[in-house]
Amino acid sequence: MVQIIENAQLKEYNTFGISACASKLCIYTDAADIAQLIADKIITDQTKILVLGGGANMLFVNNFDGLVIHPQNSFIKIIDQDADYCYVEAGAGTNWDEFVEWAVEQKLGGIENLSLIPGTVGASPVQNIGAYGVEAKDSIYSVNVVNLRNGLQRTLTNNECKFGYRNSIFKNELKDQYLVHSVVYKLSRQPQFTTHYGSIQAEIEKLGTPTLKTVRQAIINIRSAKLPDPKVTGNAGSFFKNPTISASEFEVVRSHFPDVVSYDAPNGMVKLAAGWLIDKCGLKGYVNSNGTAGVHSKQALVLVNLGGATGSDILNLSNFVRISVFSKFGINIEPEVIIL
Ligand code: EPU
Repeated sequence: MVQIIENAQLKEYNTFGISACASKLCIYTDAADIAQLIADKIITDQTKILVLGGGANMLFVNNFDGLVIHPQNSFIKIIDQDADYCYVEAGAGTNWDEFVEWAVEQKLGGIENLSLIPGTVGASPVQNIGAYGVEAKDSIYSVNVVNLRNGLQRTLTNNECKFGYRNSIFKNELKDQYLVHSVVYKLSRQPQFTTHYGSIQAEIEKLGTPTLKTVRQAIINIRSAKLPDPKVTGNAGSFFKNPTISASEFEVVRSHFPDVVSYDAPNGMVKLAAGWLIDKCGLKGYVNSNGTAGVHSKQALVLVNLGGATGSDILNLSNFVRISVFSKFGINIEPEVIIL
């Protein structure tokens, strides 16, 4: 069933809690609904379309002069299984953490490190969500999509999705062309735990031995201690991506800042912790002049709506942070959040 709301307020549909209006908001559940919207000429070739899941990675600076499609198809279905794996299809509108919780309860491994990430299943392949040494792409088997211009359905294999760090084909070649309707995850009956990242191992030890449940709980504990709950304080998780620089650029940075936090990246490149760079600029806990927006006091990579922030307040703050990091380190940090 499709529900269409004219001049819809999007405040409840983005985790920053920013007020913005969409010309039309369509809440959809069935893949066939898209073909119906096309037949009814609600979608034409000219219609500007935005697919908005949990809005956990979006910043509205302007009203959206077009059609916002909000998937509300929430389901979890085992579609195949063998001795080693279970293939599980989840609807795009399924709350991501409820899906992770379900998997852990079923003793299926692969996504437990992605516990408590805000948002929906539909966004997981688009953004290739990741945390604590694991990315969604490590467990995605295939992605079922609907063409937004002709309503036809199609399945992309993991390989066809061209996953990268917080990146996929859906943000590049296929940008704005398809709606993710559901995702098939290949989850393991013999989980391999990824516990090398940061303080996970120590946190698990406090809880007992590594099991899917203790790993999930450890991640929940670590995230809750560092990251603001969007239900309480508007935010979109990491606002910036961790930048990747060449080995020679890295040597220059390290010669001035020997304690710089870095990770090896493919092709001899080096990834830096943007949170560390921002923190080193003295910006952790920074608040803008009108008190509406700030840099989170426990994790400098996260920008927060302190109450009544507009999209421009957050954007101006992010520009200030970028300029500060560039002035100190000569490094450009780019938003991970999509700015609209
Ligand atoms: N750090 C600081 N100060 C800060 C923040 C970080 O010094 O204010 C240092 C930390 O001490 C650590 C390093 O920077 O040595 C990295 O910090 P952290 O482990 O918190 O991870 P991150 O690189 O800041 C990334 C993801 C997060 C994900 C965590 C854990 C990106 C852009 N962010 O953050 O993802 O939860 O790793 O895996 O890759 C998100 O995308 O919304 C998100 C929260």
